[in-house]
Amino acid sequence: MRVSGNVVVIGSINLDVIAAVARLPRPGETALAQRVDVVPGGKGANQALGAARAGARVTLISAVGEDGEQYLRYLEKHGVSVQHVMRAPLATGRAYIAVDDQGENSIIVAAGANAALTAHWILRCQDVIRSADIVLVQQEIPTAAIREALTLAADAHVPTILNASPVDAASRELGDLATVVVVNEHENRLVGIPDAVVTLGAAGARWGDDAVRPMTATTVDTTGAGDAFAGALAAALAVGRSRSQALAMAVESGTSATQWAGAQPDGFEPVADLRNLS
Ligand SMILES: Nc1ncnc2c1ncn2[C@@H]1O[C@H](COP(=O)(O)OP(=O)(O)O)[C@@H](O)[C@H]1O
Ligand SMILES: [Mg+2]
Repeated sequence: MRVSGNVVVIGSINLDVIAAVARLPRPGETALAQRVDVVPGGKGANQALGAARAGARVTLISAVGEDGEQYLRYLEKHGVSVQHVMRAPLATGRAYIAVDDQGENSIIVAAGANAALTAHWILRCQDVIRSADIVLVQQEIPTAAIREALTLAADAHVPTILNASPVDAASRELGDLATVVVVNEHENRLVGIPDAVVTLGAAGARWGDDAVRPMTATTVDTTGAGDAFAGALAAALAVGRSRSQALAMAVESGTSATQWAGAQPDGFEPVADLRNLS
């Protein structure tokens, strides 16, 4: 059995701008931040790094603006090929996250360059998609791009994983195009795709008759657990692991992601224009 498969991830890149506040502001209110951190995020990049950490060779198809170069160097440093990342005349995607003293949050996502990821760009990347062992997509990019990617892969008999997150009206239709669908419990209630892989938080995950519970671990922060899970699942299936082996590896990766703060274990230095905010 091969140790390293070829995973192509198609998805978002975001800078997460996280403001710590004593209390989330109510409508019309202003809150002063105690500190602001800028950390790497976006489900596409998170899952690409998750697959790389699980041992796969990973190519990320995505889009950034001029302010995304530092992020791309960070991805390369961690083993993710960024040769097929499009440059758009827009700001790199951002998630503005306010977190209060209780850990409660509210999040606004600005798609930025992610919105410029077109079906046309996916077509231009068709050679890399056709030669993948598995293709992994999420829903933080335009539906037309996802549809194109899943269709291209199916034509080339390349298996695909759709992580239907954030779930929306297109999830069901996209799920029908994918080989495997990954959802958390909340998303599963909304789309209800038969035979999906369902993640269950602290209770692990199930896939048909298989169920895996995590080793008990102290939880630091569950942000990005689902992304680590999906990346590891792709890496395992890419080298021909069985469903139950792949599920066990994915649960282990998801659970280990709850051991560190943030969506990725080792973030980068904040970009220069935002450094002064903290
Ligand atoms: N509190 C937790 N303790 C242990 N493992 C967890 C915990 N939360 C999540 N995980 C792991 O991460 C995976 C995905 O988490 P889940 O909460 O279901 O998805 P999401 O990140 O979408 O909320 C789970 O299948 C599990 O392996
Ligand atoms: Mg969770």
